Amino acid sequence: MFRIICIVIGYLIGCFQTAYILGKTVKKIDIRQFGSGNAGTTNVIRVMGWKSGIITFIGDLLKGILAVVICKLIFPDQVAAGLYAGAAAVAGHNWPVFLKFKGGKGIATTIGILLAFDYRIGIICAVIMAVVIFITRFVSLGSILMAISIPILFSIFWKTNYELMILGVFLMGSALLRHRTNIERLLSGKESKLGQRSNKKV
Ligand code: G3P
Repeated sequence: MFRIICIVIGYLIGCFQTAYILGKTVKKIDIRQFGSGNAGTTNVIRVMGWKSGIITFIGDLLKGILAVVICKLIFPDQVAAGLYAGAAAVAGHNWPVFLKFKGGKGIATTIGILLAFDYRIGIICAVIMAVVIFITRFVSLGSILMAISIPILFSIFWKTNYELMILGVFLMGSALLRHRTNIERLLSGKESKLGQRSNKKV
């Protein structure tokens, strides 16, 4: 039963779309119709600039943290509670019911979830992502490699808990699924680098 409650709480928190709300209030646009079409930090930087991008990142990061912390507090004896809420928050972020299931790619939220669930995994993931972005300037590549490292890290730090490992695989799988077009653009050399501005409609 705790799983269902955590999934519902997490999903609803995840549906809070920082990028979409910021786009509508600050620039009177639907961010999903500009740049890459993604309701996330990188696309907000691309379309609306760094200040809005940083606000988006913090908002999406915080909702991941919030989902985990709330469910940890409600179910302190269930180690998986926070991660169920976190995985559901990513699902709510990526496929929000209130926005016709078209949201973001869940990366900032995933970092927040991991930091709140197991700070060791969160910090390693954040460092992997930051280093890849710093070297290549491709946020999507950093996100993809960070996502792939999640189940590996869960199998190192939580090797006796198969439920957590499966949730780690879900976090990786949903991130890879949402980065399909980025993977195509990376392979064809058409992916844009961090800081390249664009107002073009997708
Ligand atoms: O976190 C999303 C990032 O990895 C890619 O975003 O807008 O370039 O598709 P975008």
